[in-house]
Amino acid sequence: MLELADILEARERVRETARHTPLSYSHTYSEMTGAEVHLKLENFQRTGAFKIRGATNRIATLSAAEKEAGVVTASAGNHAQGVALAASRAGVDSKIVMPEDAPISKVKATRSYGAEIVLHGADYAEAAERAHEIEREEGRTYVHAFDDEYVMAGQGTLGLEILEDCPDVDTVVVPIGGGGLIGGIATAIEAKAPDVRVIGVQSEGASSVADSLEKGEVVSLDGVETIADGIATRSVGERTFPIIDERVDEVVTVSDEEVAMAVVYLLERSKTMVEGAGAVPLAALLFERFDVDPGETVVPVLSGGNIDLNLLTTVIVRGLVETGRYLKIRTVLKDRPGALEELLAVISAHRANIYAIQHDRTSRDIGMSDTEVEIDLETRGHEHVADLIAAIEERGYEVEALV
Ligand SMILES: Cc1ncc(COP(=O)(O)O)c(C=O)c1O
Repeated sequence: MLELADILEARERVRETARHTPLSYSHTYSEMTGAEVHLKLENFQRTGAFKIRGATNRIATLSAAEKEAGVVTASAGNHAQGVALAASRAGVDSKIVMPEDAPISKVKATRSYGAEIVLHGADYAEAAERAHEIEREEGRTYVHAFDDEYVMAGQGTLGLEILEDCPDVDTVVVPIGGGGLIGGIATAIEAKAPDVRVIGVQSEGASSVADSLEKGEVVSLDGVETIADGIATRSVGERTFPIIDERVDEVVTVSDEEVAMAVVYLLERSKTMVEGAGAVPLAALLFERFDVDPGETVVPVLSGGNIDLNLLTTVIVRGLVETGRYLKIRTVLKDRPGALEELLAVISAHRANIYAIQHDRTSRDIGMSDTEVEIDLETRGHEHVADLIAAIEERGYEVEALV
């Protein structure tokens, strides 16, 4: 099993390539939770996520002949960029297989770090199959995204940084996808500061660890669904699971809505862009998924910041909806002059700002003398939303909140 010595060796190997990322005290989240909250800003890592640590360590431990033959992996996410840059820095050739519909931004970023991109297959599984074929055909080494001791040891260097920069830490909160990140961090922490709690966080829509812990073996889900794409993993690994079982104190889950709210908080309050997977530790803290004593020092690991801008738009809207700052309503008016004006007067009296409005008298779901109206509104919180809807209903309109 992975040991502290492996992580200490990894530290020397990754020093030149991976950044020692900052730890930043947050007044906002400390006030909100009563804890002392320090954010580990791994979203400021090179390539935007922690993956460069593990990939660098894996590649550094290849023999001269293996280095000569090059590496291969499959990923459309942060691992792809981590392997691409780590390989280039080590002068090793890399091939990354991505599904054919991988976002062009990810393909370009990975290529810009020096990898050759092979687009293959409809999904990750098909891309991985092709990557293993290339491994056999070309004698390249396959760099696994998490289920590899060298990869885990590299990720564990992040745990050493937390202990050095925050010697008073009581609890470290870490996202879990395949379990490589938490495996490395929990190993470093158990060896150096056994009283520090390590809490793992999964998305409700991709939460295989609870079942696996209960059964005592790796359980694979039939499908996963979450906006936190970095941790949309069907199962943890055969090598990471025993480490999670032995060294992680608690594993909790968060909903997509909670993740969206955490992303919005980080943008608005902390001026920090974090992807869904990187925001789950803060979501678990803010939405009380584990117990925190007053004054306890908590470090959520913000593991990555690579969020697709289209997805970011969706996440922001969901975060605003959940905090009562965006409202979409549908109602039906009589199709006569002035009807819309009356409705708008109620909205304006409540000082809600209109983003968009759609007025449709051809909708099939309404009477011949009615018209359907959908309005997107900027609101000022849950109380404001409730007051506004009550006022519209008082005028005799039925209101359906759409998001
Ligand atoms: C941003 C981010 N956070 C967390 C994880 C989960 O890491 P692991 O698979 O090692 O558990 C990933 C994995 O891709 C990720 O990209």
